[in-house]
Amino acid sequence: MDFTGKTAVATGAASGMGLLFSQCFARLGGNVVMCDVNEGVLEEKVRQIKEGPGGDAVGVLCDVRDYAQVCGARDRAVETFGRIDVMANFAGGTAVRMLDVDPALEFPDIPIDVYDWGIDVNLKGQFYFAHAVMKQMREQKSGLIINIGSISGMEGDGRGVDYPTAKSGVMFGLTKSLAQYGSKYNVRCVCVSPGPVLTRAAMANMKTLLGRAAEPQEIIDLILFIASEKGQFINGENILIDGGRNAMGRWNY
Ligand SMILES: NC(=O)c1ccc[n+]([C@@H]2O[C@H](COP(=O)([O-])OP(=O)(O)OC[C@H]3O[C@@H](n4cnc5c(N)ncnc54)[C@H](O)[C@@H]3O)[C@@H](O)[C@H]2O)c1
Repeated sequence: MDFTGKTAVATGAASGMGLLFSQCFARLGGNVVMCDVNEGVLEEKVRQIKEGPGGDAVGVLCDVRDYAQVCGARDRAVETFGRIDVMANFAGGTAVRMLDVDPALEFPDIPIDVYDWGIDVNLKGQFYFAHAVMKQMREQKSGLIINIGSISGMEGDGRGVDYPTAKSGVMFGLTKSLAQYGSKYNVRCVCVSPGPVLTRAAMANMKTLLGRAAEPQEIIDLILFIASEKGQFINGENILIDGGRNAMGRWNY
């Protein structure tokens, strides 16, 4: 795969899969605009990519919940590299975990602003970036939007209710809608929905038919394939990459 001359914007790029995607895309020759709220870590990771082989990197402090900041990130990408070929929406996570909510609290007892955070980051963030970058992709008459869903969007979660609610919105309604609009302008949209991924050790406890969680690289390899010359016919689809978890009989849970 060769992404020389291509530009990707990635959110959640200071850690986990967003960072790994940025590192791989740059190593394959592409330029990356790395967006995150974690300023200190982001700067360090951007510097490492700039010093390494391959394409260039730029860091943008950007909260995906803030549309003005999202447009600022889009503008920075275009000013710096002249185009946006891939928009990869990795920023996300379950609010009850990310905001460290007391495990004793149940759904109606958890403050609504916790759920607001989850819906804003996991759903509105991806929607905002799609809206912002589509303007540029329409002008270019090309582009790819990669949304990130989750197996939770298929399963639900009786406590972290925001997360499957947001993710299923992205996996189906948002992804299909963007593919429909984008088709007039040669813009594709694909959602990649992982099962458990070892960006956190605890994910090893989540069952799959293969008896293990994914290495982050396995998820990023799929995304790079979709973005590459070989993946150009993949469009408007939600692709589960979950070791067969969605195929498990529910009685195994
Ligand atoms: N790890 C898994 O098992 C798994 C499974 C299914 C789906 N996913 C999804 O994959 C994506 C990446 O997961 P990961 O495990 O690599 O995550 P991670 O926690 O390692 O990274 C998430 C990044 O998003 C950033 N972020 C958080 N809020 C933000 C905001 N408002 N604006 C901008 N950046 C923000 C964080 O600072 C962090 O760098 C997420 O959308 C997650 O929901 C993960």
